[in-house]
Amino acid sequence: MKFFIDTADINEIKKANELGILDGVTTNPSLISKVKRPYLDVLKEIAKEVPGPVSAEVIALDCDGIVNEAKELAKIGGNIVIKVPLVADGLKAVKILTSMDIKTNVTLCFNSLQALMAAKAGATYISPFVGRLDDIASEGMEVVEEILTIYNNYDYDTEVIVASVRNPLHIKYAAMMGAHIATIPFSVFNSIIKHPLTDNGIAKFLEDYKKIPK
Ligand code: G3P
Repeated sequence: MKFFIDTADINEIKKANELGILDGVTTNPSLISKVKRPYLDVLKEIAKEVPGPVSAEVIALDCDGIVNEAKELAKIGGNIVIKVPLVADGLKAVKILTSMDIKTNVTLCFNSLQALMAAKAGATYISPFVGRLDDIASEGMEVVEEILTIYNNYDYDTEVIVASVRNPLHIKYAAMMGAHIATIPFSVFNSIIKHPLTDNGIAKFLEDYKKIPK
């Protein structure tokens, strides 16, 4: 399973990267707006820091606009993946970008039929937003399970990025289902490592070590 980090904060990216288990980065306009620096500058810095795929989202909503923006973003580096919204023009653009060997991450996916359409268009990645579905009392992870079944039925190469992750259980279920990737906010990255019993256990071992005669 691959772990991406869902942030545009270079310090968070560096810290996650130092763990040695970071496979890529996903960004979006909301995440980049928090950094308060120009869009392209932020993406360039991230693409230099992490060799794995870095998702950069287009703003255009029409096919020509998406393709033109994607070509500019792709110039940032060979690891840039173009994040395209799951709308009809987005799918048309994905087909064109795929034929140009530009990788795509189809974003804002909320059901498995949308994901099927993205795979048919040749998307490299599909991003179902599980947290936002949970927020409206739908089962986000059920959508992931359906997508994996459909992709498996037809041997689609499109990889599933479990996105809009809010808690460690999203990662656990994603891993159990065999989702290819989870894109994880920094706060959740930390919480999947930490366990109070691990910390208590370390404290007790250190305390008992002191009792051993020198
Ligand atoms: O990368 C996009 C996605 O992960 C957004 O998450 O928390 O804004 O729903 P969230």
